[in-house]
Amino acid sequence: MLIGTNMIKFKTNFAGLELKTPLIIGSSGLTKNVQKNREFEQAGAGAIVLKSLFEEQIQMYCGTFIHPSDSPEAADYIENYVKAQQIDEYITLIKETKAACSIPVIASLNCYKTDVWAEYARLMEEAGADALELNIYYLFTELNFSYDTVIRLYSTVLQKVKKQLSIPVIVKIGKYFSNIPALAHILKNQGADGIVLFNRFYQTDIDIHTEQIVSGQIFSNRSEISDTLRWTALVSGKVPGLPIAASNGIHDWEDVVKCLMAGATVVQLCSAVYMYGAEIITKMLDSMGDWMNQKKYRTISDFADKLSSSNVADHSLYERSQFMKYYSNR
Ligand SMILES: Cc1cc2nc3c(=O)[nH]c(=O)nc-3n(C[C@H](O)[C@H](O)[C@H](O)COP(=O)(O)O)c2cc1C
Repeated sequence: MLIGTNMIKFKTNFAGLELKTPLIIGSSGLTKNVQKNREFEQAGAGAIVLKSLFEEQIQMYCGTFIHPSDSPEAADYIENYVKAQQIDEYITLIKETKAACSIPVIASLNCYKTDVWAEYARLMEEAGADALELNIYYLFTELNFSYDTVIRLYSTVLQKVKKQLSIPVIVKIGKYFSNIPALAHILKNQGADGIVLFNRFYQTDIDIHTEQIVSGQIFSNRSEISDTLRWTALVSGKVPGLPIAASNGIHDWEDVVKCLMAGATVVQLCSAVYMYGAEIITKMLDSMGDWMNQKKYRTISDFADKLSSSNVADHSLYERSQFMKYYSNR
């Protein structure tokens, strides 16, 4: 465990939360266990995002018991029962993690509709969550489609939740948007206290032997950091005042430094912690501390944001033309 003066240099503030370090454990199965959450704190995590409460998951459970067309009343009853039970378990996880840890505990809601979720968010705040991360996602495949639908979905969910809460609300998005800075700008104007760039989706693959659709690679790899860096740098430059948690493809301490330089305030770690355990957090902080000493950086703010798109002379380096230039010389 890191202690004392060494930790002072890592202090930061993300979305109004005071953090001892900029390393946050991302929402996943890693954070569904109170004891493990405590281990993450001891290893040096600055905050924890609890596993998500999934709108889809609750609906799926309900559908397993009874189909609405068989008996609408029974389906309704079971749906309400299952929802209540799931939310109860989640509230317990928040309360127990809060009792066991002193770092901020961020609840996570994975949703794409707007009905009861705002109410659940309020229960999470009442249970002691320090902030809420909203993982809003819906896979649009309709052919008759307008981009406004996406913006409307994100805006409506965020606005409804914001109205219910006084804790910070952080929005986690995926990377498949036609204009990420524009979406970030809209979310900021509608009260988002921070943004996570990016969620990673369940990957699809095909097994050619069994001729079945199967799960692809569950964990990220380091090449995925490229998109994270590009969009972190562009969003931080174009949407000042919206704190960014960089996520996806961050596997070692150098990746952490890169994200902070690109303009992230914090990073979220998931795959790396699954693969290497909680110790990776301490190792990252130790190595980052050594690097900061060598560079004579006393705090994170001494190097943070240095390479965001607004702080580099040629911000087109973060845009697509760089790719063309690179290959046209070969
Ligand atoms: C096994 C696994 C479970 C995850 N579960 C959730 C989840 O419940 N909610 C969520 O918002 N993101 C979830 N994620 C996404 C991660 O929080 C993270 O955004 C993503 O994996 C990218 O970070 P990484 O490259 O460090 O893995 C999950 C990821 C993995 C690998």
